[in-house]
Amino acid sequence: MEWEYLVEKAIKAKKNAYVPYSEFRVGAAVLTDSGKVFVGCNVENASYGAAICAERTAVVKAVSEGDTKIKAIAITSDSEDYTFPCGICRQVIAEFCDEETQVICSNKNGKYVRYYVKDILPHAFTKKDLL
Ligand code: THU
Repeated sequence: MEWEYLVEKAIKAKKNAYVPYSEFRVGAAVLTDSGKVFVGCNVENASYGAAICAERTAVVKAVSEGDTKIKAIAITSDSEDYTFPCGICRQVIAEFCDEETQVICSNKNGKYVRYYVKDILPHAFTKKDLL
């Protein structure tokens, strides 16, 4: 799959962002090992802390449909800068990634940079760290 295709999916998903508080629209698209793509947007709440990021929306959609292996995730917003996943989302992505998983950080024009999870979340806390 072309990374551009996943970025386009994330850009489309951004349209449904529910952002009455921040007005910062974020879209994400997850490609899983089954070849399916799950998209998500950020969904805010009057109780601000109850907001969920676009990345977690997309990951939870995938996992709840039985797809737990993320091959790639694209993230985008209306910013000229690349949008990177927040810390909590990096941790959630790490739970369902492997060494090959690609994190594709795009700007509003679809220009992107690509990372492995370990490079944006070094020394991640994972299953293997549990006693
Ligand atoms: N947001 C995301 O959806 N993903 C991120 O990785 C960064 C932040 C959302 C949360 C909130 O709705 C808005 O962007 C401003 O922080």
